Amino acid sequence: MGAKIVGTGSYLPRTVLSNEDLARTVDTSDEWIVERTGIRTRHLLAEGEEPSSMAIEAAKAALARAKVQAKKVDLLVVADNFPDMVCPGTSPFVAAGLGLAEVPFFDLHAGCTGFLYALVVANALVSSGAYGEVLVVGSEALSRVADWSDRSTCVLFGDGAGAVLLEPGGAEEGVLASALHADPTKALLLRITAGGTRTPATRETVERGEHYLRMEGQGVFRSAVGMMERSTREALEKAGMELPDVDWVIPHQANLRIIDSLLRRLDVPRERVLVNVDRVANTSTASIPIALDEGLREGKIEPGHIVVLTAFGAGATYGAVVLRI
Ligand code: ACO
Repeated sequence: MGAKIVGTGSYLPRTVLSNEDLARTVDTSDEWIVERTGIRTRHLLAEGEEPSSMAIEAAKAALARAKVQAKKVDLLVVADNFPDMVCPGTSPFVAAGLGLAEVPFFDLHAGCTGFLYALVVANALVSSGAYGEVLVVGSEALSRVADWSDRSTCVLFGDGAGAVLLEPGGAEEGVLASALHADPTKALLLRITAGGTRTPATRETVERGEHYLRMEGQGVFRSAVGMMERSTREALEKAGMELPDVDWVIPHQANLRIIDSLLRRLDVPRERVLVNVDRVANTSTASIPIALDEGLREGKIEPGHIVVLTAFGAGATYGAVVLRI
């Protein structure tokens, strides 16, 4: 038995911030951002919106596409890094918004690879027969943890959510193989150092800006390409496939230069890769499910297609999943 994807959905907040808009408040330019990252715009959530409210919209869209009522869902997994509240996370608010009653839910933190980790966990739980309809959502409000005075990070991020609904299926549909990994020696490449229990938030930590997301940009860049290449090759080997068998690659949308380096190493043409980082920037755990949903809605991804998802993120986590749609 396996688990098939029966619906996808995504949500992008209405407000769009262009590079030109950003250049009015920080010392940057459209030219610099496009050349180094490929990003042109990003969506920002409005006051009153939260990761949970974006997740609810994405989940509702996935349920509607699958023609499944929310009351049929029997497990909710939300992949995130920056939840509505440090405790109890984001998933309780998503469950409440969807009207789920007595349904287990949990947040899963695994950096920007979180959606892939959540998909693999959900796939195992459905394939084992433990659960039937499982919602997997990635939702992230990076604009709320970005330091808007730090041009080396704030230009990279956007907000959004994406969701998939899994239900029992055949062994040859949905997740065919996966390769999840992590390298804890790179744990601090991306970090928010204060606000946890090691360094609780104080006036001093806030004054030092330790509640913001910090990143070693070049260290991330150097690690990311190799990590995604290795895990993509490993997942394909486990699936008994090779790169020419793949219809679409959906890499984590962090930076167009990272995506292009990956494609060169894998020798995959751009035409077989879904890219939206130019419009939505890096939305962390939401990036892959948003791109997957767009690819399906635009009719690029068709039933039977083989799709490889690959990501890297804080932790440092990385991995790849081979899907048959
Ligand atoms: N506008 C203008 N100049 C800038 C900006 C900006 N937005 N940001 C940095 N600079 C300047 C720097 O100050 C530096 O100036 P200096 O030479 O006078 O000191 C110069 O540009 C070069 O800075 P670098 O950091 O060396 O630039 P680099 O070429 O490495 O590009 C970038 C930076 C885009 C962040 C790159 O390192 C990168 O893409 N890294 C990966 C980031 C990423 O994808 N992170 C993912 C985050 S989360 C996740 O998805 C896991």
